[in-house]
Amino acid sequence: MASLNAAGYAVSSSMRVVSVDACRPDAASVVEAVRVLRRGGLVVFPTETVYGLGCRALDPAAIARVFAVKGRPPHHPLIAHVGAEAAARELAAEWPAAASRLARVFWPGPLTLVVARAPLVPAVLAGGGPSIALRAPVHPVARALIEELGEPIAAPSANRYQGLSPTRALHAIKQLEGEVDLVLDSGPCDAGIESTVVDVRGACPRVLRPGAVPIAALRVHVPNVEFSAEEIESKEARPAPGMDRRHYAPRASLLLEEGAGPARNSAGELARTHGLVGLVTLEPGHASNDPSRTSCSHAVLERVLPRDPQRYARHLYATLHELDDAGVRTIVVERVPDDEAWCAVADRLARAASKS
Ligand code: TXA
Ligand code: MG
Repeated sequence: MASLNAAGYAVSSSMRVVSVDACRPDAASVVEAVRVLRRGGLVVFPTETVYGLGCRALDPAAIARVFAVKGRPPHHPLIAHVGAEAAARELAAEWPAAASRLARVFWPGPLTLVVARAPLVPAVLAGGGPSIALRAPVHPVARALIEELGEPIAAPSANRYQGLSPTRALHAIKQLEGEVDLVLDSGPCDAGIESTVVDVRGACPRVLRPGAVPIAALRVHVPNVEFSAEEIESKEARPAPGMDRRHYAPRASLLLEEGAGPARNSAGELARTHGLVGLVTLEPGHASNDPSRTSCSHAVLERVLPRDPQRYARHLYATLHELDDAGVRTIVVERVPDDEAWCAVADRLARAASKS
């Protein structure tokens, strides 16, 4: 049965939503979440990238429930979240020098490393494959949970398969309402886009998914890192299991247009036939300190996002969620610059726009 919680969300009586301070999580909430995890339950929790749908990483039954709740195909592996490099090494069959180098610089933080998995890792976590993806998040709530549990936490983004990732608790509740046991609400996520995934098994570390850690920052520490946007884009190559072409998509169809003028024209045209249309444009000129802005003309809801890749990423999913919730049938998005600094955002937009 649905009821309203203290924050005004309609929630099912079997799912608790608890507000937790993002910087200083209170011990009682952390202990409650760990109790849920220990009995095989699912907890939505904040990370610095997006909200995760967490369970004990070494509990095959709980992992199976995560796959079922998400509607995720079984061959799409999950990331195991650990406190530090030492805990990650226990789950790895081999720990290459590049893994140490990257972990020492970027952990805790939004970088995921793919290594060969140790025999103790359940096959179901790895999607049946030979590897495991590991990351040590920096968000204090995520860290407190991992520390109190004393074990790794498996967590995909807390959305349904191919849906939009949640950067606020409400985005996760909307998609998973009543199917998880507890939601820890710590407000908006800082990065707003998922972690960068790097496979460190080969001679050269290879970026499988661009994300919150920029490629240029990786290159400073591992100059031979390989990244090919075309390869990641390609339907055939598909370098990582779970990197489906259509992913991160709003319910509305998403259309990419070159330049603010054409995007505005196309949104106007569509509004004449479709009714309400969403429009996402880039702030004109160079970066400023304004947060995202809003304007509404006729049946076009326009959102202006910052012309800075990190700040754009922080607002992207929240903006798409908001336009979806407003009931738009189409969202026209001005293409972002064709520049490596924008590759993570460009990747998510291309996948969200993909029909298959
Ligand atoms: O920021 C993030 O990474 C968030 C937060 C919650 O940590 N998690 C997240 O998980 O985005 P998920 O499951 O939505 O995406 C994980 C991606 C998969 O799509 C897959 O491409 C890659 O990580 N991945 C996971 N395990 C892998 C493996 N063993 N080998 C290669 N890629 C893997
Ligand atoms: Mg995801």
